[in-house]
Amino acid sequence: MSRYRTLDAIEVQGKTALVRVDHNVPLDDGKVRSDLRIRRSIPTIRSILDRGGKAVLLTHLGRPKGKPDPEFSVAPVARHLEHLMGHPVQFVPAVTGDDVRRAVDSLSAGEILYLENVRYEPGEQTNDPDLARTLASYADFYVNDAFGTCHRAHASVVGVTAHLPSVAGQLVRAELLYVKELLANPRSPFVAVIGGIKISDKIPLMRNLMSRVTTFLVGGGAAYSFLAESGLSVGGSPVEPDLVGVVSEIRAEAKQAGVEIVLPEDHLVIGVDGDKGRSWVVDESIPEDASAVDLGPRSAVRYAQAIERAAEVVLFGPMGVFEWGDPFSRGTEAVVRAMARCSGITVVGGGDSSRAVLAAGVESSIDHISTGGGAFLEILGTGILPGVEALVAAPTEI
Ligand code: 3PG
Repeated sequence: MSRYRTLDAIEVQGKTALVRVDHNVPLDDGKVRSDLRIRRSIPTIRSILDRGGKAVLLTHLGRPKGKPDPEFSVAPVARHLEHLMGHPVQFVPAVTGDDVRRAVDSLSAGEILYLENVRYEPGEQTNDPDLARTLASYADFYVNDAFGTCHRAHASVVGVTAHLPSVAGQLVRAELLYVKELLANPRSPFVAVIGGIKISDKIPLMRNLMSRVTTFLVGGGAAYSFLAESGLSVGGSPVEPDLVGVVSEIRAEAKQAGVEIVLPEDHLVIGVDGDKGRSWVVDESIPEDASAVDLGPRSAVRYAQAIERAAEVVLFGPMGVFEWGDPFSRGTEAVVRAMARCSGITVVGGGDSSRAVLAAGVESSIDHISTGGGAFLEILGTGILPGVEALVAAPTEI
């Protein structure tokens, strides 16, 4: 993982960089709702411009199915970047074609060109070699600063690296350093907080962390597959029935490794009719007509205490439906606030968890908020990301 090159190894003056960013951000009525990913890509862009380079930016937004779809235009994102940087961003509403070629050819040092959603191209997700070659033809070198997309072997992430000297941007580098820290030098007690709706996508991560962590604190929908497996009544709470066998295996592996799996002992619930106006706390077993929507108060305190005492904490996924606001956000808020108070290393992954950190206003007290969701899970689960492997294999000269 450490053999990729970084942007500082490249002579930038007078050269054009093709910069793959992950500006796949939530939009509301054409306005960017959460701009963490955009803000975090700015140091790389500035570093290219400040060193006399030109930047051609590429991102995807949503899943537009390989053809133009106005709902997924990145024009509002380009405007938002311009606003954040206080620097002109020229937007061309195409990924390939004559307009793009003309704009690339007339770019001067210190200028930014922002292209339309790369997933408008049918060859992006199939890693089409012709599209990769076309994208590469815009630049002298390639910078991957799209950590959140590094688990996708797409043309603008992997294919393009066959044709250009390719390096990691500052965001990708910072993300990989934190992951390396967690995986290579675990400090005890190491607490992994696993939340979110599903447990299925967290299983590889739990397995890979098994030899490193002291404790798993499991919350959110993820907890209810564990509680159901232990025979507890979970009412209408989300359970993945196909995973009961896997959950038993995880328990056995944890027992063998001496790792504690902590599950909620009380729960905030609502009726199965989904009426948010009526919520109440139950102990241990959940009645048939209720479903869990957050940790109960005792569990929230217990989880917070374990986090505060940790030397290292990683959080992936909220503890409940925090986006519904109070009282449903209390468990997640208790967890992120405890992370902010923890004097150990604290790392948060996944869009929902990072939004919870921002909502609680504790961003500056967390060591690292990853911009990756699937990519963060994949690297913590397997140690490998196709986008990073491609940088390692890329030519140093063309
Ligand atoms: C993400 O939000 O996880 C990345 O931008 C990747 O998006 P995708 O899941 O649509 O490939």
